[in-house]
Order: sequence, then C-alpha cells, then structure tokens
Amino acid sequence: MPDGENKLRRSTTEDDITAAVLARFAATPDPRLKQIMLGLIKHLHEFVQEVELTETEWFQAIEILTEAGKMCSDKRQEFILFSDTLGVSMVVDLIGHRKPEGATESTVFGPFHRLGSPEMPPGGNIAHRDTAGIPTLVSGRVLDLDGKPIAGAVLDVWQTQSNGLYDSQDASVDGLHMRGKFTTDAEGRYLIRTVRPVNYPIPSDGPVGAMLKATGRHPWRPAHIHFVVMADGYEAVTTHIFDRTDEYLESDAVFAVKESLICDFTRHETPTPQAAKLGVTGPVLTADFDFVLKPAGAVAQANVLDAQRRLAALGAR
Ligand SMILES: [Fe+2]
Repeated sequence: MPDGENKLRRSTTEDDITAAVLARFAATPDPRLKQIMLGLIKHLHEFVQEVELTETEWFQAIEILTEAGKMCSDKRQEFILFSDTLGVSMVVDLIGHRKPEGATESTVFGPFHRLGSPEMPPGGNIAHRDTAGIPTLVSGRVLDLDGKPIAGAVLDVWQTQSNGLYDSQDASVDGLHMRGKFTTDAEGRYLIRTVRPVNYPIPSDGPVGAMLKATGRHPWRPAHIHFVVMADGYEAVTTHIFDRTDEYLESDAVFAVKESLICDFTRHETPTPQAAKLGVTGPVLTADFDFVLKPAGAVAQANVLDAQRRLAALGAR
C-alpha cells in the first residue's frame, strides 16, 4: 500500500483527528494561550467522544449558542448566566481569589451589574422608587487585614427591587434604580439605605432557562445584595451578602453562597434612631457587615469593572 494512502486512512480515526488538531496548535507562540488551546481541544474532543455526540445534538448546541449571543445586550448577558448556572463562574472565582484568612470572600459577579450608578452620601437610598419593600439599613466598615479602617473605599452596590426584578428587567423602570456607589468615612464606615433583599428566579426566557427546565433544576437565587468593594492599594472584592433566613441558601441556582457571606437582617418594629434620622417611620431591618480587603499584589489584578465596560460596549453595538 502506498504511504500516502496509509496516512489518509489513519487520519480518519477519531483519535488521529484529535492528535492532528493538537499538533496544529503546538506552535502557538504565547505559552499561556498554547496551554489553554491544547487543554480545550483535549477535553472538548474527549467530551464529544465520551457522550458520542450526534449531529442533531451538535446542531442543537450551535442553535443554543447562537440564541445566547443574540440575547446579549448592554443590559443582558446570557453567557455569564450560562457560566453561573454551570458552576464555572464559581470554579474560576475559587481559583482566582484564594484569600488569606480574614479577608472577605468573593462570589459571582453575575449578569446584572450596570455601569454609571450614582454616587451617594452615607445613608443614601438606592431604593428611592420602591415603596413596597421593607426599609433596610446596611452598615459596617471596610477594614484591612489588621482590622484598621480604610477611608475612601468605594462600595458599588446593586440589588433587585422588592418585586424580584433588577431595573434592567423591569419595563416600568426608566434608567438606573437600586444601584449606588458609597464611599467610606475616616473610620472606614459606610451606610446604605435600601429595601429588604428578596429571593428571585434568574431570567428563564432564554436558553439558560430552557436548560434549567429540561434538567429539572429550579432557577431561584437566595436573597442577596451585590457589592464590588474597591480601595487604592487593595485588591477589589466582588461579592454578595446573603439573608440568613432564605430558603434557597442551600440550593442557589448559581452555586454562589459562601458561609462567611451570610448575614443577619434584624427586624425592628419601630425605627432605630439611625433609621428615624433618615426619615423611616415604620418597621425597619438592619444588617451589619464588615468588608476586609487584602493588599494589592505586585501584579495588578484584572478589574472586573473594566471587563464589564468591554462587555457592555459589545452588547450595546
Ligand atoms: Fe443578584
């Protein structure tokens, strides 16, 4: 048998295709890109072989990815939702943010952050248009690993309204709502007025929702408030605080709950002095949470908000 014929026949087996593709990427100049591409090909081919993916299923995957891309805008990120619900976001988070003892743990960024939230004074009300929710004061300090206050730290905060929807999901809301940036005072203190966070289902009108339905999973997330806490000279932390009483703490649709981020929201039937000063007249909830930042490393970490700027610009096109 001539040599050429033999080679051609051998290259038609599944394993030979994998080897040929790996060889084709072997000359990638950037060593990190090479590592990622070779790992991706190896696992992707193994996966396809293991489940014996059919052509119909392959087309279905292309449809799902196409649909996910089409759903993305400056207000909606279906791929982040996929990553979150597949648990990939949390694996990336755990690898990338191994914190020293005492530093606030991070969790998923999620798809609902929006740029341009307003700067607010201490006690500023991010829920100024939400009349149905229970007024809630979240306060605490931003500290370093030695417990010293960090003045001038910025807390970028976002949350759903009491109807369980983010502003970007609620057609009746024009512009930004339930979002604000707070700066710590000389003692590292912050004070946020909001409404009680509620549990909510992640959007289920797209391919992620279809996946959850088809796999018998629920879409609920336990009640939480999102934060990115930043200060000069420290590593920013992207995190949430969760309501300790929530029924979905054990089964968060995006696997984001960490024990250290669970917080008590204490109900007071009459306003606390601080709440009264801010004009709250009825029952109020208070939550106290200190954020602890670790010093910035020698190598600057990618800023989550810069990545968000690029994503939003892509979505807005
Ligand atoms: Fe959320």
